[in-house]
Amino acid sequence: MTCHRLVRRSIAVGGILAVALTSASPVLAVAAHDIVPGVIAAYSLAAPRSEAPSGLVARAVVPAGAPCPSLRTTRAADGSTRFVHMAVRPTPARTSPAFDAITVCSAPMPVGLTDASISGVVVPATMPTAVDRLAMLGDSGCRISSWQVQDCASDIAWPLARIAQSVADEHPDAVLFNGDFFYREAPCPAGSQALCGSSPPPVTGLPFTDSAYGWIADTLLPMAPMLSAAPLIITRGNHEACYRGGNGFFLLFDPREGTQDTCAPVSTTAGLVAADTVPTPTYAIDLTVSKGRTLRLAIVDSAGGADNAVTAFAAVQRPAYVQAADLTRPRRGRESWLLTHRPLYGFITSQFAQPGVPFNPWGSMDQAAAADGLLGNYAMVFSSHMHIAQSVQLPGLPGQLILGNAGTLLDPTTGYPLPTAGPQISASQGYPAPSWGWVGVRFGYAMASPQADSSSWRIMMKDPDGGTFARCGLANRELFCRDL
Ligand SMILES: [Fe+2]
Ligand SMILES: [Fe+2]
Repeated sequence: MTCHRLVRRSIAVGGILAVALTSASPVLAVAAHDIVPGVIAAYSLAAPRSEAPSGLVARAVVPAGAPCPSLRTTRAADGSTRFVHMAVRPTPARTSPAFDAITVCSAPMPVGLTDASISGVVVPATMPTAVDRLAMLGDSGCRISSWQVQDCASDIAWPLARIAQSVADEHPDAVLFNGDFFYREAPCPAGSQALCGSSPPPVTGLPFTDSAYGWIADTLLPMAPMLSAAPLIITRGNHEACYRGGNGFFLLFDPREGTQDTCAPVSTTAGLVAADTVPTPTYAIDLTVSKGRTLRLAIVDSAGGADNAVTAFAAVQRPAYVQAADLTRPRRGRESWLLTHRPLYGFITSQFAQPGVPFNPWGSMDQAAAADGLLGNYAMVFSSHMHIAQSVQLPGLPGQLILGNAGTLLDPTTGYPLPTAGPQISASQGYPAPSWGWVGVRFGYAMASPQADSSSWRIMMKDPDGGTFARCGLANRELFCRDL
């Protein structure tokens, strides 16, 4: 029996598993069982160990109506191949028809594998055992709003696909993506059809702006090479607030079981309204750097809150930073970074000053207030949110790295003098004045590599094609960058 005939027979009988069991060729049997046509995306999300003892959750996105593919795995112990059932991750309640075009499938990655694939797409099978290269980026979607439009058909104006390919080509051990995936929040304006005329608009009548086709256009297609390149460590951005892209985020990219309804709209007598955007529980991801050295990442959800003032939301946000501090208590051989989409201390361009309003150069004031006094455990804070690259040093506090330059329209290139005072979070409380800062306003991502000294890292800033434009060093909680 030839391979060709066997495949044709599998289609004719319509029973893929039956063919797999009766085939005389084990290799072909695996292939016939494995392939489900039309997988839109396949990837592995880093997850708390309570969710998956391996530290990974496998996801696949398929067209609605297609069955969930199996996760094909190879066991390290004996080299045997096993197929793992992927379950449907339920679509968020009361969101139809926004996500009706896709089915999302999910399974905890088994422990002890050498490799894994989904419908022929190789996905990471294990968390890294010796981290040498971390890719870092954030803020990636193509901006379509009533007031600002990006050219989504240009890989110069919106270079996410180039960035994703460059990240994949770096062969990172893990990818740290710091939120703000979703930017297609409005129909393409009539006057901008040449820029975004092909973009799927939000569904009319729903209290949020994302959809399956929106996520396919903004994330799943352009990011494809990167999504399956390495375990994805992900935070939620404010563009994933419940009235924006939150439903798609919790369907596709939150690694935790049962969180898909976090942003499900609420039924009221006035109809559906968006759910409140509140922080989800903080969790930790551990990366083994080398024998006896672990990097712990505390993942904080900072999708909510105000940027230009301290509001009552700071008290709602604060428990997430308390949890992060608890998770990162000092331990021998462990260093910790805080990952939170909104920076705790990042300075914005003076071009954002409002007429008649005293200019506050610091963004994310609710986050600064919420995290005040809780930052002693971190070597670095990694954020995005501002559409630039930036590093900021405040005396006695961890270096703040900001990378919000992965494709979304950049902030202005000028107007970044180092502020003369730190963020003021109340009449009597404030952060110290910055001792140092660096700003680079260009598209790209970063690659971080550990150095010999504990908690020391070298971080290279890369352009969309992988060229290095700046170099940073992190040591003793201090982060310094310089242009090359
Ligand atoms: Fe953003
Ligand atoms: Fe943001």
